[in-house]
Amino acid sequence: MVMTGTVTEFRAPAIGPRSVTVLGSTGSVGCNTIDMIERNPGAYRVEALTAHNNVDLLIEQSLRLKPRLAVTGNPENYEKLKAALAGTGIEAAAGRAAVIEAAERPAEWVMASIVGAAGLEPTLAAVRRGALIGLANKETLVCAGSLMMKEVAKHKATMLPVDSEHSAIFQVFDFDKIPAIEKIILTASGGPFRTKSFAEMTAMTPAQAVAHPNWSMGAKISVDSASMMNKGLELIEAHHLFGLPEEQIDILVHPQSVIHSMVAYRDGSVLAQLGTPDMRTPIAYALGWPNRIEAPSARLDFVKIAQFTFEAPDPERFPALRLARAALRAGGRAPTILNAANEIAVAAFLASEIRFTDIAAVVETVLEKLPVGTLTSIDDVLATDGEARKVAGAEVAARRKNS
Ligand SMILES: NC(=O)c1ccc[n+]([C@@H]2O[C@H](COP(=O)([O-])OP(=O)(O)OC[C@H]3O[C@@H](n4cnc5c(N)ncnc54)[C@H](OP(=O)(O)O)[C@@H]3O)[C@@H](O)[C@H]2O)c1
Repeated sequence: MVMTGTVTEFRAPAIGPRSVTVLGSTGSVGCNTIDMIERNPGAYRVEALTAHNNVDLLIEQSLRLKPRLAVTGNPENYEKLKAALAGTGIEAAAGRAAVIEAAERPAEWVMASIVGAAGLEPTLAAVRRGALIGLANKETLVCAGSLMMKEVAKHKATMLPVDSEHSAIFQVFDFDKIPAIEKIILTASGGPFRTKSFAEMTAMTPAQAVAHPNWSMGAKISVDSASMMNKGLELIEAHHLFGLPEEQIDILVHPQSVIHSMVAYRDGSVLAQLGTPDMRTPIAYALGWPNRIEAPSARLDFVKIAQFTFEAPDPERFPALRLARAALRAGGRAPTILNAANEIAVAAFLASEIRFTDIAAVVETVLEKLPVGTLTSIDDVLATDGEARKVAGAEVAARRKNS
């Protein structure tokens, strides 16, 4: 079985427990991954766990799961981590380089669940040693998609999508019959502001934006869902994972979040994957791959659901959708700029420095100010990311003064 682009080739599962590393173990996806590991005693051996600020949770997880290495990205947490793990045989480390080193350690399977472009280099380190990667960190593919997928092919790594939409597509995408595929249909819940007018969205607070109707997630992706930038990032992610051009990827609002995405074939068939909105299902799919393992997610009760509804997305009220499509079409540095500017704008919104509707406005301004150019190396990506963050920071500062 050969799956070009996303998965290089089938491998027989290793004998004995699968060795795993969780990058971003203290986050929403990270904690769900730890939950799945703990529900399968004896099936997994933890090589490394990494976190950033939440050292208390990292310590708790380490004492329970006994990884060989525990890393905090923030060096200020090192002494506390080291003291708590003294005498346990668990190595403690801190700093950006140590997070990358954790990804380099020889775990067969790596969960990439750091949020934002901060996940790029650690994910790349796992790719470069040919690991099986559960990819939650979509920003990695948004800011460096083509280069990353080249590295995946070169090092025979395997990208197993964890985003529920991409996991759904992966499960019904016939990699052997790509010409028979008409399009991908990415479903979107529409987020907490689905029915709000643009004017109403101007006054929305961070607490309202993170209150997602269906999913419980980290703050950044929750805000991205409210602005629908999340769907824009997923559009770019889908393009890189499945190799289809932007015009073959549709977005469809489906407020129940039960159909996680679909693939439409040229013969008129549409294949979908369904489930209740619980990240442990796509995490279980990636963690167990190529086998399927039990997940505790609530089962679908179709009679209770009774109806599925669908709406076209509205790029006027949700300009992030338009910006992400334009960035994908423009190529070059545009998606990297889009992602970096969005990270800065979302952080400023969460800190109550700018309004909700300023997020897309900041991204649009930064995209207008910086040339599209080209990306030929990961160093180019990192430089572009840094440059876009600076310009976005200045734009946030200007808006902060005016608000
Ligand atoms: N949450 C979901 O249901 C969901 C669904 C699909 C896709 N995703 C994607 O999965 C990724 C993680 O999302 P999440 O919701 O789990 O985020 P989250 O709850 O905010 O967790 C982020 C994780 O990354 C760590 N981290 C943050 N900044 C870091 C840095 N500079 N260096 C190293 N580690 C850092 C955090 O550590 P500390 O907490 O210790 O600071 C935490 O472990 C995102 O790319 C998101 O788009 C999430």
